[in-house]
Amino acid sequence: MNRKYRRTVIAGNWKMNQLNSGVKKYMEELKENLPAQKTCDIVLCTPAVMISTMVRAGKECKVAAGAQDVSKYEKGAYTGEVSAEMLADVGAKYCIVGHSERREYHQESDSLVNEKAKALIAKGIVPIICVGESLEQREKNLTMEYIAYQVKAALDGIDGTQVRHCVIAYEPIWAIGTGKTATADQAQEVCGEIRAVIRKMYGARSARAVSILYGGSMNAKNAAELLAMPDIDGGLIGGASLKPVDFATIVAATAQE
Ligand code: PGA
Repeated sequence: MNRKYRRTVIAGNWKMNQLNSGVKKYMEELKENLPAQKTCDIVLCTPAVMISTMVRAGKECKVAAGAQDVSKYEKGAYTGEVSAEMLADVGAKYCIVGHSERREYHQESDSLVNEKAKALIAKGIVPIICVGESLEQREKNLTMEYIAYQVKAALDGIDGTQVRHCVIAYEPIWAIGTGKTATADQAQEVCGEIRAVIRKMYGARSARAVSILYGGSMNAKNAAELLAMPDIDGGLIGGASLKPVDFATIVAATAQE
């Protein structure tokens, strides 16, 4: 983390879990366990139908509501889609784009991820842009090359002012939901490379302002070590965000200097 130049963000990704009727109880338990002192921005990215509930429930303990996907279209005849303006209208502050599950199961391309990020920026929502290599790519030593390509593709056409309001999440695919976490050194190495790519594209000032998160089996036990790394500014947390006590413990791990 580097609190001097950028925000620390702990974002939960509930994926297709939890129910609207359970949000209140979850938030009560979270509130009881959160540290009194605020040391990071806390976000919970819920399915779209729960965002309004999260906006209301999150007010008291300053948890921002986020979405998990958005349409690239502004409005119109796109059955089933949810626009960035709709997300902003219900109070979402963040939205995940390019999660590997969407890339894999919904065939999302790098250019679609880029269009979605731009749609969000246009409506004042912070995109949490996910990038990450497969196990095969890592084993073939292609990680850095592939991540650099993904970052460049996702940020195409986004200017130096806008990029400061983007969050990048490094999520190695082999670490998501597998219990296999990247080591702190492995995660730092890639997050540092992501910042170097942004520096080349936009210069040092913009690069140091962008928050870069790590995601992939981050949990209450390993969070502190990952967050101690200079280029890891927070986490995108799936499984462990479903348990309020664990999520609160990860938030508390941002209190370190
Ligand atoms: P995980 O998921 O923490 O369950 O590995 C992370 C993510 O997919 O964002």
